[in-house]
Amino acid sequence: MKVLCLVLLCFLIAGNEAKVYERCELAAALKRGGLDRYHGYSLGNWVCMAYHESRYNTRAVGPPNSDGSRDYGIFQINSRWWCDNGRRPTANGCRKPCSAFTTDNISDDIECAKRIVRDPQGMNAWVAWSRYCKGTDLSRWTRGCRI
Ligand SMILES: *[C@@H]1O[C@H](CO)[C@@H](O)[C@H](O)[C@H]1NC(C)=O
Repeated sequence: MKVLCLVLLCFLIAGNEAKVYERCELAAALKRGGLDRYHGYSLGNWVCMAYHESRYNTRAVGPPNSDGSRDYGIFQINSRWWCDNGRRPTANGCRKPCSAFTTDNISDDIECAKRIVRDPQGMNAWVAWSRYCKGTDLSRWTRGCRI
């Protein structure tokens, strides 16, 4: 009985857990979403960025930034500029509640990332990308993936 309860508890906990993508699973999803070579950035850039921003966790919410904004989801999209979390000011450039970026469905995140990268700074909008991905060998992020 004790064992059964533990097993049930595990299922309940698992049911509430964030979806955390596997590397190749995410690479395939981002490719389906049209991010491969989007605005000139190969798929490896996006997979590397997502890893360093959220560790592929769709429900990641960052701690408050110095301006009080927060970052949401697999791409850690910022509430000051791109989504609305109820706090003012927000430019809400992607016209979405920030909660849209913390669900298991990453299609909103992908659409917003496309909007973000079209700005002049490109992927430099993501500090983790500039720091850990830019100028590195990005092929390893999609290596072994059937995509
Ligand atoms: C994910 O969200 C998009 C837009 O919000 C919707 O069109 C699509 O059907 C959703 N996909 C799934 C699997 O629920």
